[in-house]
Amino acid sequence: MNPIKDLQSDHRRLNLAISRIQQHVLDPEHRYFAEGRRSEATEAVLRLVESLIADLEMHERRERESLYPLILRRRPELRDAYAEIELEHRGLEAAAAQLKRIVQGELAASNREIAKRVIHLLLMLKSHMRDEERHLFAPMENVLQEAL
Ligand SMILES: [Fe+2]
Ligand SMILES: [Fe+2]
Repeated sequence: MNPIKDLQSDHRRLNLAISRIQQHVLDPEHRYFAEGRRSEATEAVLRLVESLIADLEMHERRERESLYPLILRRRPELRDAYAEIELEHRGLEAAAAQLKRIVQGELAASNREIAKRVIHLLLMLKSHMRDEERHLFAPMENVLQEAL
């Protein structure tokens, strides 16, 4: 079994969800995040955000269990790259946790602020997945191929 293939397909799925949410949040015609009360359409977008966060949490758990121990064992020279990626994970977790509290109504925020935080999380996640693929997945792919 090649754990990288599974993680890459997670990334593809997450990227699709990101594009979908981005379109809604930035939609100039419907203005889902215009100030005022949260409309049903806004709530629907927030449900998509919640489900993205749940998928992300599951994905990160899989990485922690299947890939990262393998990296540290087989390619100890990637430790610095791994540390950088771990920092990104902490940043993502903090942003996601905050947004989750807002979406669930535990923390107050204006629609404009919600939209800003959603876009911030999406951009962070996109760039994290790019970094991860470039700095960890690619070098590990070679190791896995050598092992076959
Ligand atoms: Fe990750
Ligand atoms: Fe990932």
